[in-house]
Amino acid sequence: MIKKDCIVLSINGRKFKFSVGTGFGDVSPSETLTHTLRRRLGYTGSKESCDAGACGCCAVIADGEAIASCMALTVEMDGKSITTIEGLEDPIEGLDPIQQAFIDEYSFQCGYCTPGIIMVAKALFMSNPHPTANEISEALSGNYCRCISQYTVLRALNKLAGNENAELATFTRASDEVEDPIPVRQELYLSPYANGHVCAHSLD
Ligand code: FES
Ligand code: FES
Repeated sequence: MIKKDCIVLSINGRKFKFSVGTGFGDVSPSETLTHTLRRRLGYTGSKESCDAGACGCCAVIADGEAIASCMALTVEMDGKSITTIEGLEDPIEGLDPIQQAFIDEYSFQCGYCTPGIIMVAKALFMSNPHPTANEISEALSGNYCRCISQYTVLRALNKLAGNENAELATFTRASDEVEDPIPVRQELYLSPYANGHVCAHSLD
């Protein structure tokens, strides 16, 4: 139960104060962080897709941890420091090294999944500057790329981590010859970063 009338969020270094309630302009107790960022503040970099915590497109960093913003209530973010993809570029140094690596390796196609993937990767590199290839894949197991760009995403992140010789994950595609169609469908909906296996969801 939220008892405060106001909440304060730091978003990309700027402080925002919101009144909480059900009146015009208030942040309602059921408003998600995705809604607040995209529709209230115009931070449309984090994408709204499944709206159910399953795809990672809406990921942002809250107090150093990647979270699915569609699964976080804005009122729960009171006092937290949120970073979205818009806040990653340094005004002096320029693009974050992860952003630059994605450009160098052409690590996206339509780009809809890209902000979420970059924010999850950023949280990982903040806590561990040299993650192993497995740690990178595991961290991204809650992200889904519909364009199958994961090969180049993994190449960019492994290069950045110093895993130059890491084998890239292979995407196990469902075969038309498989007899039982239900496992086939389940496999198709797995994150490609999970490398064909069920991984713990990193954004739940
Ligand atoms: S839109 Fe939030 S996880 Fe898919
Ligand atoms: S690049 Fe299109 S969804 Fe990932």
